[in-house]
Amino acid sequence: MVKQTVSSVITLLLLLFILREVEGDKRSHEVKLFVFGDSYVDTGNSVNSASYKPPSGDTFPGKPAGRFSDGCVLTDYIASYLKIKSPTPYIFRNSSELQYGMNFAHGGSGIFNTSVDGPNMTVQIDSFENLIKEKVYTKADLESSVALVNAAGNDYATFLLRQHGSIQDMPVFTTILIRQMSLNLRRIHSLGINKIAVGLLEPIGCMPLLTVASSYEKCLEPFNLISQNHSQMLLQIVQELNKELGKPVFVTLDLYNSFLSVISTMQKRHSENPTLMNPLQPCCEGVSMEYSCGSVDEKGEKKYCLCKKPELSFFWEGVHLSQNGWYAVYMMLYSSLSKL
Ligand SMILES: *[C@@H]1O[C@H](CO)[C@@H](O)[C@H](O)[C@H]1NC(C)=O
Ligand SMILES: *[C@@H]1O[C@H](CO)[C@@H](O)[C@H](O)[C@H]1NC(C)=O
Ligand SMILES: *[C@@H]1O[C@H](CO)[C@@H](O)[C@H](O)[C@H]1NC(C)=O
Ligand SMILES: *[C@@H]1O[C@H](CO)[C@@H](O)[C@H](O)[C@H]1NC(C)=O
Repeated sequence: MVKQTVSSVITLLLLLFILREVEGDKRSHEVKLFVFGDSYVDTGNSVNSASYKPPSGDTFPGKPAGRFSDGCVLTDYIASYLKIKSPTPYIFRNSSELQYGMNFAHGGSGIFNTSVDGPNMTVQIDSFENLIKEKVYTKADLESSVALVNAAGNDYATFLLRQHGSIQDMPVFTTILIRQMSLNLRRIHSLGINKIAVGLLEPIGCMPLLTVASSYEKCLEPFNLISQNHSQMLLQIVQELNKELGKPVFVTLDLYNSFLSVISTMQKRHSENPTLMNPLQPCCEGVSMEYSCGSVDEKGEKKYCLCKKPELSFFWEGVHLSQNGWYAVYMMLYSSLSKL
C-alpha cells in the first residue's frame, strides 16, 4: 500500500516535471525572428546564386545550403541568441516549420532596386504583410517577435557602378537611402513588431574586392567614409524614432565598428604570428583575375582555391564573411543584443 503510494507520487512528480518541460518548451518558442535585407542575413532565398553552389556551406552544414559563407551567418547567431532555430527562408514558406519566424532577406538586394533580380526591402515587407493578412502569424505572435534588418551595401554598390566609382553626390544619395530605410522601419513596427535590430553599414572599404588593390594590406578610407556617414545618419534616425515612440523599439547593431575592431585585432595577431591569417585576405579566391570563388571552367574543373583553415579567416570571399568572421562580429555585438 505504502509502496504503491510512493510510486504514484513519483509518477505524479514525473508527470508534473514533463508538463513543466513542455510548458517551458512552448514558452521558449514564442519568440520569432523576422529577417529583412541582403546576403549578410539571407539563409536560403537566393536559389541560382553562389550560396547554393560549392564551396559555400563547406563548414556548416557541410554542403551548399543557401548561405553566402562557409557556414553560419549573422541571422543564425542572432537566432541562437534568442534560443530558437534559424527562421525558415521565405521560399520554403510552405514548410511546416514556421514557429521560429521567417527570413525574407535576399542576396544582392537593397533598399532600392539593384542590379540583382530580387525583392527590394519594400517587396520583402510586402511579403511579410501578406502572411499576416493570411493569418500565418497572429498579433500575439508578432508582439513577442524580433526583426533583424540589414541592407544598403548593395545600394551603394549599384550607385557606385552607375557613377563609375565617383563618390560625388554621395551625401545626397545617403540621405535618400536613409529616408526610405526610415519608412521601412516604421512600417515593420506598424505591422506589430516591437523589437527591431538594425544593422549599421559595414566598412565597405575593407572588402577584399577592394583591398585586393593593396594586396589586402589596408582598407580604402574614402569608401569607409561612405559607411561612416551612412551609419551616423542611420543611428540618428533610429534615436529619433525611439524618442517619437517613447520606447526603445529600435536597436542598432554596429557592424561598422565591430568589423573594424575584429580586423584590427586579427591584423595585430597576424603581424606577431604570420601563420595566422591576414583578416583582409579572403579564404576563397579565384585562381586568377578572371575567376572568383566558386568558378568552374567548361570541363567542370575548379578555378578557385581555398585557404587551409577557414576557421582562421575573417572574409570568406570578396564581400562576405566566413563563419569565423561572423562569430567574431557576433561576439562584438553581444552587449547590444541584450536590448532585444
Ligand atoms: C504554397 O502552397 C500554395 C497552396 O498550397 C501554392 O499555391 C503555392 O504556390 C506554394 N508556394 C510555394 C512557394 O511553394
Ligand atoms: C521595390 O520594387 C517594387 C517592384 O519590384 C517597385 O515597385 C518599388 O518601387 C521598389 N521600391 C523601391 C523603394 O525602390
Ligand atoms: C524595380 O524592379 C522591378 C522589377 O524587378 C520593376 O518592376 C520596378 O519598376 C523597379 N522599380 C524601380 C523604382 O526602379
Ligand atoms: C560624409 O559626410 C561629410 C559631412 O557631412 C561630407 O562632407 C562628406 O562629403 C561625406 N562623404 C561621403 C563619402 O559621403
